[in-house]
Amino acid sequence: MSETPRKILVTSALPYVNGSPHMGHLVEYIQTDIWVRFQKLLGNDCIYVCASDAHGTPIMLKAREQGITPEELTAGYSKEFKNDFADFNIEFDNFHTTHSPENEALVAGMFERLRETGDIYTRTIEQSYDEKEGMFLPDRFVKGTCPRCKSEDQYGDACEVCGATYSPEDLIDPVSVLSGTTPVKRESEHYFFRLSEYEDRLRDWMSHAALDKNVVAKLDEWFQAGLQDWDISRDAPYFGFRIPGTENKYFYVWLDAPVGYMASFKHLCDRTDGLEFDDYWDPDSDAEVFHFIGKDIMYFHTLFWPAVLKGSGYRQPTSVYAHGFLTVNGQKMSKSRGTFIKARTYLDNLHPAALRYYYAAKLGPTIEDIDLNLEDFVARVNSDLIGKLVNIASRCAGFINKKFDGRLTDSLPDESLFAEFAAASGTIAGHYEKREYSKAMRLVMALADKANRYIDEYKPWVMAKDEASLPDVQRVCTQGLNMFRSLMIYLSPVIPTVAEDARAFLNEDAWRWDDASEPLLGSTLQKFKPLLTRIEADQVQRMVEQSRETAPVAKEETQDDTISIDDFMKVDMRIAKIEKAEPVEGADKLLALTLDVGDSQRQVFAGIKAAYAPDALVGRHVIVVANLAPRKMRFGVSEGMVLAAGPGGEDIFLLSPDDGAKPGMRVK
Ligand code: 2FM
Ligand code: ZN
Repeated sequence: MSETPRKILVTSALPYVNGSPHMGHLVEYIQTDIWVRFQKLLGNDCIYVCASDAHGTPIMLKAREQGITPEELTAGYSKEFKNDFADFNIEFDNFHTTHSPENEALVAGMFERLRETGDIYTRTIEQSYDEKEGMFLPDRFVKGTCPRCKSEDQYGDACEVCGATYSPEDLIDPVSVLSGTTPVKRESEHYFFRLSEYEDRLRDWMSHAALDKNVVAKLDEWFQAGLQDWDISRDAPYFGFRIPGTENKYFYVWLDAPVGYMASFKHLCDRTDGLEFDDYWDPDSDAEVFHFIGKDIMYFHTLFWPAVLKGSGYRQPTSVYAHGFLTVNGQKMSKSRGTFIKARTYLDNLHPAALRYYYAAKLGPTIEDIDLNLEDFVARVNSDLIGKLVNIASRCAGFINKKFDGRLTDSLPDESLFAEFAAASGTIAGHYEKREYSKAMRLVMALADKANRYIDEYKPWVMAKDEASLPDVQRVCTQGLNMFRSLMIYLSPVIPTVAEDARAFLNEDAWRWDDASEPLLGSTLQKFKPLLTRIEADQVQRMVEQSRETAPVAKEETQDDTISIDDFMKVDMRIAKIEKAEPVEGADKLLALTLDVGDSQRQVFAGIKAAYAPDALVGRHVIVVANLAPRKMRFGVSEGMVLAAGPGGEDIFLLSPDDGAKPGMRVK
């Protein structure tokens, strides 16, 4: 590449770290990673940053439920995300967290600036408040009957039955999801960002941001409806950054999350000589900034975020690239069907390159959903990667290795055929650049078919039987391996580890995009090792079974909240005697109980530390659910559940049977 390299900063959406990464997450990270690897291969100066999205109510509550701090909860899941991403060959230049000093400083700076310009102001609003839990309730934490169609059990922001949108106050018979009590109205002062004043500036940004037409259509819809000012604060208790100058107000997670892109980059700059934050974020920066996101978070990235950046004196994104959702076998991922597949479960059974290739073969630049059809996945990967691509090398490598000491000829027998492979470079690069990966994969596979036809035509395995034809065998195989090499270079952003193994076999140090257009001649190859093996249907079957086993059935998949008498009869409740009760290191609320359940001993973690001192428990009889599947917690495996009543905290009352009960007795 002769032009000056482009300076590009790329991000993927920052994942909430309150659950494990799954196949749905991977669409975006694989899509982004392919684009970044392609830019790097071209010789562009491309930086890919990401981070854990560590704040917000769901994270705070989940940590509370597990009896650990939000920091502990998010640290655990962040580690899981990082490991799984690495094993899927998703290569960040930096992976940070939104709960970082860099982020807090940037958010505070932007807040201060927007306060000065008057773009952030305060207003008192009325909200649902749970008196029992002592907290304001986000819309999703209030449920009730839809005011329009009267369907029961609907969230406080929208009805899933008739599609009406409303606020929690409009619900009939609202209840708090947290305590089951009726929320009351309470006033509180909130901070608002004046988005309503930004329409012209956003239209201006939009006009040069090269957004997909579906994204533009969405923006037009929002402009039509009129932009509303944005509530950027939340009351304590909240896990996030405290708003400077307040005692009990926090920045809403969606304010500091995108700033996390900048913070992760800042964290990288602080550790990298010559990398300057301002070179990328000043309003007159010549760098490009691209955000890859899912279609569900377009509002935040194409309205709030460019507006906040503009208002606080930073550059805006060059573009925002949105993708669709993932379905598996044509349906929403489902725990009961075993199609809610965690990244790690996939990796336990299959090669990461297979999924990377399959997603690439399906992905385009629009917000259309993509489907992972498991049968098609097996067929497609076997046919394309094994049957077409790797096959070229396996048909030629053996002859070069064995008959010619690994040496390639000094010229190609069919230069014009190779020229076709070289000439595809521009088209394939254009497809990658525009995120038209499915088109790029189709073109590469059409060329692979061509290479296989060439080998079929000359049949080196037949020629090799005749001593006089051996020089032709070397020439044909050199031609074949060169076509293979060009295709591997083209595919290296998609299947990087397979491409690396191919490069090692071809005995080359590094590849750049342009190397695909120049043949490799006269050099000596390394021994050929199989690059990929076929996928067997039972590997996929096993993965589905493992996903079915490990995942509890989600609430929305059950018909209603009742259980049958048969279900109830399955619950094995027994009397247990507490033999030992100990605090758990790192967990504020848990006690580790050793229970005698008659025929065996069990370890159970119970969130009762605020209510009971460990010593007061030893020797007590309690009721335990004895046939609960063991659950892996951060501190060990919990082998049952001790029954208690009460709202929580200090008000937890263990259910104790009357005297005379003995460990192991069944409770009926
Ligand atoms: O929707 C989500 O999963 C968010 N955690 C994405 C945040 S992207 C960015 F703004 F940080
Ligand atoms: Zn309704």
